[in-house]
Amino acid sequence: MISINDLTFLIGSRALYDEANWHIKPGDRVGLIGANGTGKSTLLKIIVGEYGPSSGSISMSKDLKIGYLNQDLLSYDSHHSILHVAMEAFERQNQLHDEIEELLKKIETDYSEDVLYKLSDKQQEFEALDGYSIEYRANEILAGLGFSTEDQHRPLNTFSGGWRMRVMLAKILLQTPDILLLDEPTNHMDLPSIKWLETYLGSFEGAIVIVSHDRYFLDKVVNKIVESRKGKLTPYSGNYSFYLEEKSLRGEIQKGEFKNQQAKIKQEERLIERFRAKASKAKMAQSRMKALDKMERVEDVDDDNPTVNFQFKFSKPS
Ligand SMILES: Nc1ncnc2c1ncn2[C@@H]1O[C@H](COP(=O)(O)OP(=O)(O)O)[C@@H](O)[C@H]1O
Ligand SMILES: [Mg+2]
Repeated sequence: MISINDLTFLIGSRALYDEANWHIKPGDRVGLIGANGTGKSTLLKIIVGEYGPSSGSISMSKDLKIGYLNQDLLSYDSHHSILHVAMEAFERQNQLHDEIEELLKKIETDYSEDVLYKLSDKQQEFEALDGYSIEYRANEILAGLGFSTEDQHRPLNTFSGGWRMRVMLAKILLQTPDILLLDEPTNHMDLPSIKWLETYLGSFEGAIVIVSHDRYFLDKVVNKIVESRKGKLTPYSGNYSFYLEEKSLRGEIQKGEFKNQQAKIKQEERLIERFRAKASKAKMAQSRMKALDKMERVEDVDDDNPTVNFQFKFSKPS
């Protein structure tokens, strides 16, 4: 559904991504991980089109509805109640609601059939879109994210950043997107809300991409990991625990290959050294040196692994 092809993204002269590739398929549940500053948030912004790639391309199915929870949403502000803000998700229903109100007013003085037909059309569409249940649906999701009925009528700007973030999450979930891109959604959440989100995402049928450092959360919610590291995106076909095992396995293999190659290089260098000393073998030394230069090198394993967070944060609405 989304294809990232040979993506290069430059910040100044530094390549944050260097010909990275990734295919997101329908129903994929992916944890996007990587050390801070490796470009996870930037990648999500490239996917939604906020940033353009320096080279390479992003392609996606037409009409794909993306629900994107951005860390910058923390600063979103409104004097409307959070229930109202969450219900802004239902754009068409809200528009129909206003139009119906207007027609009902009109009908008090204007008895023409035209107005009546219009009204009945709008009401039918409103009903088809479950317009009468939007408040209930918003209530339900907000309650799941820890807002009491009373809280739901308080203006957004009376809540702290973390709680405002949950309102934005509620709004995004209500839009029933085909794919969710969530950038560190649990950062400002308490345990019950994290549990609620786990359950919610468990029954979510679209694709999910979550940036998170919370391995317990990832283990519950995702079945694939993509690691952002050194400009590349590397897939692992399991949850976070699988990733750790697989990574150490791949690391062992790479370490072995590195050691073998180093031994081979040393031997070759000794040989070249000896050949070079003899005039009759100088040519051979030269060609072996060239071959050695061209040899594709196995890199040693370094352990700049992403940090994971083993702590849960607790907080109350404020
Ligand atoms: N608009 C920008 N201008 C300049 N540098 C940026 C911009 N956005 C991000 N960066 C830099 O790009 C790198 C990756 O950032 P980010 O995508 O936020 O990483 P992550 O989410 O993996 O921690 C960081 O070094 C950051 O400082
Ligand atoms: Mg980030």
